[in-house]
Amino acid sequence: AAGLDKNAEAIDFFTQLPFGFVEVGTVTPLPQAGNPGPRLFRYPAEESIRNRMGFNNAGSDIVLKNIINSNRRSKILGVNLGKNKITPNEKAFEDYASLYRKFSPIADYLVVNVSSPNTPGLRDLLAENGLRQIFEGLKGEQKIIKKPLFVKVSPDMTNEQLSAVVLLVKEFNLSGIIATNTTIMSERGEGGMSGKILYQKAKKTREYLLKELKETPELELIGVGGFSSFSDLKEFWSAGGKLAQIYTSLIYQGPKILFDIENELMSDYQKFGCKNFGEYQQALTK
Ligand code: FNR
Repeated sequence: AAGLDKNAEAIDFFTQLPFGFVEVGTVTPLPQAGNPGPRLFRYPAEESIRNRMGFNNAGSDIVLKNIINSNRRSKILGVNLGKNKITPNEKAFEDYASLYRKFSPIADYLVVNVSSPNTPGLRDLLAENGLRQIFEGLKGEQKIIKKPLFVKVSPDMTNEQLSAVVLLVKEFNLSGIIATNTTIMSERGEGGMSGKILYQKAKKTREYLLKELKETPELELIGVGGFSSFSDLKEFWSAGGKLAQIYTSLIYQGPKILFDIENELMSDYQKFGCKNFGEYQQALTK
């Protein structure tokens, strides 16, 4: 998931693991330092993390160079886009448009990220008028190069807000939604919580969106937020989800989690007599 390889420095490593796809960023047009430390807090007993990084990254020029020089091993690469802290929200659309222009030639998909809790006012852009302005700006860019485009949402949104995003995704012909970013739990302190503690909230958001997207199977929901075991993924797949990302569980469990998931999936394929994921999902939802 985004945030683990903000500067696209570790694509060679991550594409050697049994990931199907890798998402780098969040990248902003200009380099920025992010928030002062400490800005990352571990809750090992809960297999969770709180972060208030604030889009620290090397900026779009360096990230672009890193991607060009990386070995992707033919895997799918997403680039997650964010606005600089100094860019006012009224001008945020210009940041997203310039980033899209820069990364669309080399990315397999792009993500409009307005759901991080760590850039002041960023989540205000998740409102209908904020997103509309961004997508309008991107429409012009998409006439030059059209790549799959996603919007990443927050688990702290109401169903009404989520439905408004779904309508916009359909209106602007996006490819889908990534759900979810981290959640604010102010009793723990500043920043966003990820990992097991986020699971139930993110699951609720994902399952609401899966229902909303049921009639439009061409729209993809990329699930993220709290997945820490094969059974979590199975729950997501049973609800109709397909593509999934992880961050925090990889920190606590290491790459072993990927091999565990792969093994369990293969043994389920055998058990159900499935040859591919489509058949497996059908067996799960029967
Ligand atoms: C993140 N996440 C994140 N998301 C994003 O879109 N852009 C970013 O730059 C970051 N940065 C970031 C830093 C750190 C330290 C963490 C822990 C997380 C959010 C991440 O992509 C994911 O949506 C959440 O962490 C939920 O997934 P997990 O961690 O529960 O699997």
